[in-house]
Amino acid sequence: MKERIDKILSSQNIASRSEIKSMIRSKRITADGALVQRPDEKFDPDITSFAVDGKTVEFSRFVYIMMNKPAGVLSASTDRHAKTVIDLLPPEMQRRDLFPAGRLDKDTVGFILITNDGGLAHKMLSPKSHVYKLYEVQCDRPLTDRDADAFAEGIKIGELECQPAQMRITGSNSALVEICEGKFHQIKRMFHALGAEVTALKRIRIGEVTLDETLEQGEARYLNSQEIIDILSRKHGI
Ligand code: URA
Repeated sequence: MKERIDKILSSQNIASRSEIKSMIRSKRITADGALVQRPDEKFDPDITSFAVDGKTVEFSRFVYIMMNKPAGVLSASTDRHAKTVIDLLPPEMQRRDLFPAGRLDKDTVGFILITNDGGLAHKMLSPKSHVYKLYEVQCDRPLTDRDADAFAEGIKIGELECQPAQMRITGSNSALVEICEGKFHQIKRMFHALGAEVTALKRIRIGEVTLDETLEQGEARYLNSQEIIDILSRKHGI
């Protein structure tokens, strides 16, 4: 499918869309050896070879976007009534095939990965892959070592047994929790099972990639090539 050259190249994390536009004006970009004249020229990236300053750009069909999700927004691609994380993406990042890899509740904030790579999303979400996600949790009561022990043993949510998880108390009513499963409302239900209600929840890490704190809520940026590897890391510990 043909797309604008400035959009194609900015999705490859080479430079921002406005920088690409100025590179085109400075005659630094070629497509199949011919100078690109305008940022709105369209090409099929699957069959076109692009170069910047004579250096070939390795094109990847997949994109990986880190968003700092705000509260009140759905982790879905589309919704008839509510705003979704995809709606929040700026126009230059929009593409038809994007989806959020996994769900954060409407009131949960923090790191959500948006991609068009179903294979990576599946690996990141499958508990068998042991990709850990780290959350900052605020509760309505002080937390104790007994709570941390219960997490380490494995909490039962009704009939569901959660895998042993690490919970570290960081303040009287706050903790860090690391899980590699993604059961529905899992963190809230784990605390509820211990008689505590979660009052605020923020995801701050997936695999070995930490939420970029320079992103304001609702902002997004492309992952760099190291982060694309690190997002599937099995290393964990808090
Ligand atoms: N656990 C929850 O309860 N909610 C989330 O959004 C993520 C993990």
